[in-house]
Formats: sequence, structure tokens, C-alpha cells
Amino acid sequence: PVLDPDMNDASHALRMLNERMQASMEFPLAVHSTQAVLGTGIAPASIMLLGEHPGEQEDLAGQPFIGPAGKLLNQALSEAGIQRGEVYVTNALKHYKFKLQGTRRVRMLPGLGDIRTYQPWLQGEIAIVQPRIVVALGTVAAHAITGTALEMEANRGKLFQLQENRQALVTYHPSFVLRSQDEVTKKLRYEKLVADLRLAASIAM
Ligand code: URA
Repeated sequence: PVLDPDMNDASHALRMLNERMQASMEFPLAVHSTQAVLGTGIAPASIMLLGEHPGEQEDLAGQPFIGPAGKLLNQALSEAGIQRGEVYVTNALKHYKFKLQGTRRVRMLPGLGDIRTYQPWLQGEIAIVQPRIVVALGTVAAHAITGTALEMEANRGKLFQLQENRQALVTYHPSFVLRSQDEVTKKLRYEKLVADLRLAASIAM
């Protein structure tokens, strides 16, 4: 194939990785989902945002974090002084995991097996994107990046050392903020998410 002259080595490597992923037959979740939702953003990038798995809207559009959680994430990013266009955004799992309730597709929580299935692809993305910091949004992302099941309240705002002088920061998933039982809790959680993103930005600089 002819290479796009505007494409750097990292973008090219990501494209190759994504092509291999889409051709791979190893994903049980691929059977029922619309498509694989790949990471988006710049590469290399000093900040990688890691979510859980695509939701309803992401599955249909083929882009990560474009639904309600994505809108809240965008707002939190801009409050933290981070432009979405200058980070790399991806998910621990690249396919939507859901169960049918009537005709409705209802999001399911990934298990350890799901995290393991996608692990080589996540590590492939990290090797190409070379982030200084990976912000783990929620417990599934935290598990995928640290290799350990972590309790959120005990670990939110904490940094974990990864390989190659890279760090992971654990924070709330935007959907968790959205699902708060009342407005006061929601505001508190949102402010913590913004503060964590600010910390990530300061480390990435
Ligand atoms: N939630 C996630 O974890 N990822 C998305 O891409 C959308 C919603």
C-alpha cells in the first residue's frame, strides 16, 4: 500500500496493528458487536486515556467515548486544560459487551477473561503511542493496565509505576460520575476526576 506522506511512523504502526486486530478471529465479543472500536487521537501522545469498552453509541459509530460518558469526559478534559485532540483515547476491550433485554442491548461488565483477550492489543498500542502516563478510567481499565484488581476508592488518584518509566493514574470512569445517586455526589466525583486529569497533565509535561 502507498503510505500517506502525512502519516508518521506511529500512526502507520497503529494502522497496521488495527488492521491485524480487525482481521483476528480471536474475539468472542466480535460476533455480536457492530465493529471493533479502535483507539483515536495522536500518536505518539504523552497522555493515554483508557476506558473500559465501547458503549451503544461507540459500537454503532466505531469511535471511543462519543456517547454520554464521552461528553462528560470532554468537559472534564477541557476543565483540566487538556485538549482531547492532543491525547490518545482507547478502551481496554475493543468490542461492545452487552446482553439483550428484549430488543435493548444492555452493557455488561467485562471479566478477567475479556481483559486478558485484549491485553496484547492494549500493550501493542502502548508500545506505539509511548505515553508518559496512562489514565485508567474505572476499575476495568485499572485492572487492565496494572494487572491487579483494584478497589476504586482506595486507589483513585494514585500513581502506579509501569514499565519504561511510564505511570498509570487510577480515576473514576465518567459513567460512574454520571450514575451518581445525587447531584452533590456527582459534583464531588466530577471534581475529583478533573483534579486527577490535571495531575496527569502535570506529569505528562
Ligand atoms: N465507556 C467506555 O468505557 N468507553 C467508551 O468508549 C464509551 C463508554
